[in-house]
Amino acid sequence: MAKVLVATEKPFAAVAVKGIREVIEGAGMELALLEKYTDKAQLLEAVKDADALIIRSDKVDNEVLDAAKQLKIVVRAGAGYDNVDLAAATAHQVVVMNTPGQNSNAVAELVFGLLVFAVRNFYNGTSGIELKGKKLGILAYGNVGRNVARIAKGFGMEVCAYDAFCPASVIEADGVKAVASTADLFKECQIVSLHIPATPETKGSINHELMSSMPKNAILVNTARKEVMDEAGLAQILAERPDFKYLTDVMPAIHPELAEKFGGRYFSTPKKMGAQTAEANINAGIAAAKQIVDYLVNGNERFRVNK
Ligand code: 3PG
Repeated sequence: MAKVLVATEKPFAAVAVKGIREVIEGAGMELALLEKYTDKAQLLEAVKDADALIIRSDKVDNEVLDAAKQLKIVVRAGAGYDNVDLAAATAHQVVVMNTPGQNSNAVAELVFGLLVFAVRNFYNGTSGIELKGKKLGILAYGNVGRNVARIAKGFGMEVCAYDAFCPASVIEADGVKAVASTADLFKECQIVSLHIPATPETKGSINHELMSSMPKNAILVNTARKEVMDEAGLAQILAERPDFKYLTDVMPAIHPELAEKFGGRYFSTPKKMGAQTAEANINAGIAAAKQIVDYLVNGNERFRVNK
């Protein structure tokens, strides 16, 4: 009987685990759970006899793949798969998939949770500003970016977007202004929301030059990955511009310094929680379970992200 391991340092909602179990057991497979593990050794032990693995931001590197002697497939229940060593997986003949779009509404809603919190001065009782009429720039028009655009329109915001891989016509068809470059987006928009993946090209790409080009009373929101930020540049801009705010769901390495120096203009969630909703967990978790069954039973490789 094939064994499917769900290894989540940050667990899914119980209702999602129930749904995953139904899919896996319904296909005559066995489900094993490793939740809230604190040590990599626990993961190395748990993967030993797993045929398939469901993870979230959990790291799957060469060592994990070496330990997982029977592993055939890893599904990252979520969008970003920068936590999986794709080359090592390919070398171990392990298929890697993600579940694109399944948790994107949850992340998009959190963008506005962070924004309202910040423009109302972190609910300290003083007079803030409104989002209506403000210009929002969305960097990367994928599943999350599109949901952010949809919600922003409900707030009455002016919405712009740039995506190096998405044609302007697709963006414009949603009633969103397509700008020509990342630089233009930062120059034009008072509020910018990041939705780019962490890749060798994007790492450190949100730099001092971009941030310093933002209009007055700038707000930068990062619910994507901490690695895309040039953290030295971020600390510098916060020091130089008292009108600049940074809100994030992916805590920077220099969080203690930023929290101490820039309280009132800097906020980070204590733990990434963009996709931490029952709905997102159900959508992504069950999609992952179904993709595993479909691969192990039918060989369906749709959503494969490694070669
Ligand atoms: C994703 O890439 O899907 C999101 O960043 C959510 O990550 P999480 O599953 O670790 O919350």
